Formats: sequence, C-alpha cells, structure tokens
Amino acid sequence: MRMRTRGHLSERLERCGGLAIDYRGGRLNLPAPLHLEIGCGKGDFITETARLNPEINYIAVERVSNVIVLAMEKAARAELTNLKFILGDFAEAAESFPDGSVDRIYLNFSDPWPKNGNAKRRLTHGRFLELYKRILSDGGEIFFKTDNRELFEFSLATFPENGFELSSVTFDLHGSGFEGNIMTEYERRFTEMGVPICRLEARKKL
Ligand SMILES: C[S@@+](CC[C@H](N)C(=O)[O-])C[C@H]1O[C@@H](n2cnc3c(N)ncnc32)[C@H](O)[C@@H]1O
Repeated sequence: MRMRTRGHLSERLERCGGLAIDYRGGRLNLPAPLHLEIGCGKGDFITETARLNPEINYIAVERVSNVIVLAMEKAARAELTNLKFILGDFAEAAESFPDGSVDRIYLNFSDPWPKNGNAKRRLTHGRFLELYKRILSDGGEIFFKTDNRELFEFSLATFPENGFELSSVTFDLHGSGFEGNIMTEYERRFTEMGVPICRLEARKKL
C-alpha cells in the first residue's frame, strides 16, 4: 500500500514537472522582480498572491513532497505562468540563489521549534537571516506572519540584531485594519480557533 501511495505521488509530481526548479545544478538564472515564499505548505497563499500579481515572479519552497504537490496542482489548475516551485530544504536551496536576486521573502506560519535547543532551526534565526540578507536585493524585505507569540517575540529581536529594520508590527493582524491580507491554510485554522495573528515587515538595511 505504501509503495502504491509513493508511486502515485511521484506521478503527480512528474505531471507538475514544468513548474519545478531543480536547484542542484549551480547558480540559478532567475527572473526579476522575484518574490519567494519559504515553507509554502499546500500553497493557498502563494497561488492566490501570484494570481493577483501577474507582473511579479514567484518561487515557493517546501521540503515535504506530499504537501508541495498539492500547491503545484493548484498552480497548474489556475494556469499560473509566474509561479514556480522548489522541492527541498531552503537551507540547501539558498546556495543556488545569486546575491541580490530576491526582492521579497514571505515566511508564513513557520514551524516555531519551541525548545531552546532547536532555536537554530527557526526560519527567523540569525543563521537564516544571514542567508536572506545575501539573496535579498538592496531594500529587499521580509513579510512574516505567525500565530506563535514566542516565535514572534524571538523574531522581533533577531531581525534588528541581524541588520533588518522593522515596520508594520502588529500582534493582531485581523484587528489591525491591514488591507489585502491573503490567508494561508494555517492562518485560516488558527483564526477560526480565535488565535490572534502576529505580523511584521523587515527591510534589509543598506
Ligand atoms: C507550519 S507549516 C505552514 C504552512 C503554510 N505556510 C501555512 O501558513 O499554511 C510550515 C511549512 O514550512 C515547511 N518548512 C519548514 N522549514 C522549511 C525549510 N527549511 N525549507 C522548506 N520548507 C520548510 C514545512 O514543511 C511546512 O510545510
């Protein structure tokens, strides 16, 4: 049964092959302007964002194959030509991004890794912020949303410590009057449970 499921998954990934970027062959030749989502999950956010902004190029990175395949299938169904996908861990894929090639990074509901011993795995840890700084263009920005107050407070410290300037910080996105928010799968779930959503924007200092 497991074999059949795996076989089915690889067929589905193959069918969406035209949407996949292979990052293992050296530095990528990327279009501009370029926005990146790291940890896109099932892709509700990035497919809707790409649909609404056809003049922007998007790449969504996700390391779990049976999750990214759902995002890729959504993009294929919507016939989006400005959205591509990388199946893999961003820490590895980052090496193939040229310096300054990304104008915006979205981090939506990143895994919180609550134990201090796992802090280095958080996508807003200084280790990752250094990677983002290299691939972001001058004035490049990161838009971060989370339900997790501890991760948010951790990030409020790490961004300024690593050369980013914060703006539009809110501990209650949906009560803040922010317009044009596009919900992710996790955001919908936490919002239905009454959990407030935290959001910030971080701009790379020149
Ligand atoms: C909690 S889920 C949130 C999914 C989606 N962004 C949302 O808001 O509904 C976090 C996702 O990030 C992915 N992820 C975490 N770290 C990653 C990394 N280093 N590279 C690629 N994907 C990652 C996980 O596999 C998972 O699908």
